[in-house]
Amino acid sequence: MQLFVDTADLKEIREAAAMGVISGVTTNPSLLAKNGSGDVKSVIREICELVPDGPVSMEVVGDTAEQMIKEGKAFSTWASNIYVKVPFCVEGMKAVKWFAQEGIHTNVTLVFSTNQVLLAANAGASIISSFVGRLDDIGFDGTQVIAESVDLVRQHGFASKILAASIRHPLHVTQAAAAGADISTIPFKVLKQMYDHPLTEKGMSLFKADWDKLNATLAV
Ligand code: G3P
Repeated sequence: MQLFVDTADLKEIREAAAMGVISGVTTNPSLLAKNGSGDVKSVIREICELVPDGPVSMEVVGDTAEQMIKEGKAFSTWASNIYVKVPFCVEGMKAVKWFAQEGIHTNVTLVFSTNQVLLAANAGASIISSFVGRLDDIGFDGTQVIAESVDLVRQHGFASKILAASIRHPLHVTQAAAAGADISTIPFKVLKQMYDHPLTEKGMSLFKADWDKLNATLAV
């Protein structure tokens, strides 16, 4: 399973990219607003330079397929690794179909059911972002949609990749991987939490303490 970072914060993306474990970036209007820069094109182009080999998702905000296509065509000129993020809706799937025919990569977002996944896959979505946390937040099992979607997309030979989105904690990442998700996009805070374990920290302290007792010198 590939790991993407779910943020528009350039400092977080620089730090995440340096960790050597992320393969892409997802943004959305809320993450861009949190970032506070009105110069969205410059922010997205810098993100594309920070993660040049991976998909960087930039979301359209138009209401009609025509508006979404106009926006997405413009986004796709910003960098070669841009994926046009399209919210799930009838107009959005019309736009995704057009993008697929033009060879423009897409990431269909705000997906919460397996039927929505099937519709997005039939429209030709490159990536389908199935939201886990927001389903869990209202008492449903977000990981179940991931597992069912992965099975059906693979069973029927769709090219779309299933991305686990709306990740709230490290266990969601484990569950998404176990469910067979192709990608999980992770808030930077959760990405850092994935590294932590008290026994690892305790073990490192013990190794260093015992090494210091040895009073050895490494000829390096
Ligand atoms: O960016 C897409 C998705 O991961 C955002 O989910 O619930 O954290 O806003 P959420």
